[in-house]
Amino acid sequence: MNIRIIDHPLVRHKLALMREADCSTYKFRTLTGELARLLAYEASRDIETESYTLQGWCGEIQGERIKGKTLTVVPILRAGLGMLDGVLDLIPTAKISVVGLQRDEETLKPVSYFEKFVSQMDQRPALIIDPMLATGGSMVATIDLLKKKGCTNIKALVLVAAPEGVKLVNEAHPDVTVYAAALDSHLNENGYIIPGLGDAGDKIFGTK
Ligand code: URA
Repeated sequence: MNIRIIDHPLVRHKLALMREADCSTYKFRTLTGELARLLAYEASRDIETESYTLQGWCGEIQGERIKGKTLTVVPILRAGLGMLDGVLDLIPTAKISVVGLQRDEETLKPVSYFEKFVSQMDQRPALIIDPMLATGGSMVATIDLLKKKGCTNIKALVLVAAPEGVKLVNEAHPDVTVYAAALDSHLNENGYIIPGLGDAGDKIFGTK
């Protein structure tokens, strides 16, 4: 499976706090941002850099800077917005592209009701953010949209993944790596990840 679980004590600790049933909206939102930052750190490990000459305090030295077009972060509405600030803390110059999906009542497949992409998507690495990779339908649909825009370097950042979602993404888009804080057991009959976090969107926005 094309999934990278970020095996780190801070990640495990923060995720466990989010799993507590009485985790407040404030705490859940804060932890979502903190975990997003740690996931983005791992997912940005292979960003290409180039060396350049800079004027240091003691003369000219070689430094490194990120090469090419600035990366785009792609939150999937609504819950993905909860991870946005965390990623931007780490990559403040990132451009933001947004995707909103809803289920088509006939086909039951996710279809886009909102999409706004930054320019030159074909030249930018893209980091999709969505806290829960459940069935994988929304993630696959978002990757489809990005590839239609010419994106060739796509990663997905999620807090919790279900094996069903990882499998769907892997089958449809084997070139896309999913970075997750945890790979949980399964989906229940209502499409919730078990043990999961419950409804992450409601918990981030306080709408439960
Ligand atoms: N979306 C959520 O917010 N939680 C789940 O468990 C599955 C999908």
